[in-house]
Amino acid sequence: MAILKIARMGHPALRWPTEPVSDPTAPEIRRLVADMIETMYDAPGIGLAATQVHVPKRVVVFYVPERRADGAAGTAGGAQPLTVLINPVIEPLGEETDSMLEACLSVPGFTGLVPRFRRVRYTGIGLEGEPIDRVAEGFHARVVQHECDHLDGILYPMRIVDMSTFGFAEEVHREHAAAASEIEAE
Ligand code: NI
Repeated sequence: MAILKIARMGHPALRWPTEPVSDPTAPEIRRLVADMIETMYDAPGIGLAATQVHVPKRVVVFYVPERRADGAAGTAGGAQPLTVLINPVIEPLGEETDSMLEACLSVPGFTGLVPRFRRVRYTGIGLEGEPIDRVAEGFHARVVQHECDHLDGILYPMRIVDMSTFGFAEEVHREHAAAASEIEAE
């Protein structure tokens, strides 16, 4: 395993067109996922997309820690175990959106208020090729939307509606300490 270098906003790797994974059990995918998990925990972060480590494949990893959960364990908004999601597809469930502060390992030091669908369904496959089909709410839904956006070259600042909310995390948190709910960066 290895800790990989994370591309920062402006690096073309974050915009490379991505390809679906044809065989999730292939050794190079195993290695990539193991390295992504190690890199995510080291950062530390709670999600990472393959494009962030310069690999244009449709793979993301994430988890939802208890302290960020928006519901009881086992519910759509509850804490989620480490999830490897390959070839993900997201479908919004309803029109309702929430706005919360996000951060990103590719945009270190910054944060901003991002609207996201409150409830989504996501499907894909896991590392053994098993189907994944989940409903997500709240922070769980936000993490998945943020990570999957990376596979389409979209960074959270591109989703900010009110750019006056975007700034250095140190400064923004001083104002919005209670509202802070960051993605990726701890
Ligand atoms: Ni990110």
